[in-house]
Amino acid sequence: MAIITKEHIAASFRVGNGVELPQPPNGIARMHADLTLLGDVLSAKPVEAGFAWTDKTTVRRPTRHSAWFLGGKNGAFVEDPKLLDATDGNKAAGRRGLELLLNFSAEQYEALHNLKCLADVGIRLGALAVGIPLEVFTQGHTRYRVAHYVGAEGGGIGVHVDGNLITALLTNGPGLTELRYDGSRHCTDHRATSLMPGSTLYRASAAAGQPFLPTFHYVDMPPGTNKTSFVAAYNLPEGSYDLYGHPFNYDVASMKAGDNPHDGPLVPLWQQAANAHGVSVEDFSHSRFPAA
Ligand SMILES: [Fe+2]
Repeated sequence: MAIITKEHIAASFRVGNGVELPQPPNGIARMHADLTLLGDVLSAKPVEAGFAWTDKTTVRRPTRHSAWFLGGKNGAFVEDPKLLDATDGNKAAGRRGLELLLNFSAEQYEALHNLKCLADVGIRLGALAVGIPLEVFTQGHTRYRVAHYVGAEGGGIGVHVDGNLITALLTNGPGLTELRYDGSRHCTDHRATSLMPGSTLYRASAAAGQPFLPTFHYVDMPPGTNKTSFVAAYNLPEGSYDLYGHPFNYDVASMKAGDNPHDGPLVPLWQQAANAHGVSVEDFSHSRFPAA
């Protein structure tokens, strides 16, 4: 197994590349079984009509069932509906998560916690790598989204960056591709924990003078495919600090809204990445790429 150091993670995040944390073979089987178990629960729930992304025109929509959970104290999940409603994230999916949580079997609850543990390790390692002190890190929160996708013609999620400090992704199927700033494409390994630097990390680190670039990526879900993903999104409290505890207007909702390719502080990054891939920003944001 490859050895991943904090220095490797920091160097990768500095240039906008994601990092894969390898898992032992028995860990991979367990992770995929947990994802399948929760995906089966979710797929019995109503399908989401659609979901907004960075730029609504670029979104291709697979069928998605999802729910999210908010990390609380002592390794538990938050069960207070008011706290969930006050968190950045679709309210209906947050309430769906709470309903599931309160009705899970022991096996399902254990699966959720196992996935959370794997993701938490990745989030903490990523935070250590970018130099977030523990006293700042513990002020932050992590939302955990479980999503079951069913592929469709042209199905997937268009090119975007995540509106998080750090994303940790666990999934039981391929389809996620990074579009890197050096012009290369990287299909992430679905047997690993995938870490990606997000746009709030970029903004907070740029404000501190040493930017970590957000990872541009998209997801392909063609007909006949389905998978379940567990996405942990770590962010700091709104209106609080930059990475190092200095005052910083940290507002996740407005930052996400400003992550699009047409206006806002990420426009130069969209242009840089599109240029590297030899296409216009328009084509880049619409995922119009020749086959790899
Ligand atoms: Fe994403």
